[in-house]
Amino acid sequence: MVSDVVKAALNKQIGLEGYASFLYLSMASWCDREGLAGCAQFMHRQSAEERMHMLKIFHYLAEVDGHALAPAVPQPPHEFSSVQEMFKTVYVHEQKVTTSINHLVAIATKEDDHATYAFLQWYVNEQREEEALMRSILDKIKLIGDGPQSLYFIDLEIAKINAAEAAAEPEA
Ligand code: FEO
Repeated sequence: MVSDVVKAALNKQIGLEGYASFLYLSMASWCDREGLAGCAQFMHRQSAEERMHMLKIFHYLAEVDGHALAPAVPQPPHEFSSVQEMFKTVYVHEQKVTTSINHLVAIATKEDDHATYAFLQWYVNEQREEEALMRSILDKIKLIGDGPQSLYFIDLEIAKINAAEAAAEPEA
């Protein structure tokens, strides 16, 4: 059993994870249009991962006799001025998600809800990894610079990162 405060906060988090999934889906589509096949694959995988994050909370709420609500997701942006700007947007959104998870942990602590506190530790670790990944991508983009073939090399690097991330995923 979870309190109404915790239920509401978990449902709010479902909305954020759902938005992240659609934001990354929108980015995948933009990357495809721009001929950035490696980036598109990366964004599709990230989008699927965010959907999994959302569903994890759905299942948790069902397990603790809560009621998971399918969120109203605002339409994400469809245009990005550059691949750099797109990844900066991802990083900023991930920071927002981290802040929200930290807030959720604080609520669980205040409510003396140890089960939710324990459940959220997976998200705490996941956010640390996601932020580190996005920072490393932004660093790489900076290193490549904006020479004539920079987009080609950025796409190649992101494809490599995507393959490594996919290989590290647990078997479904
Ligand atoms: Fe599930 Fe990347 O936030």
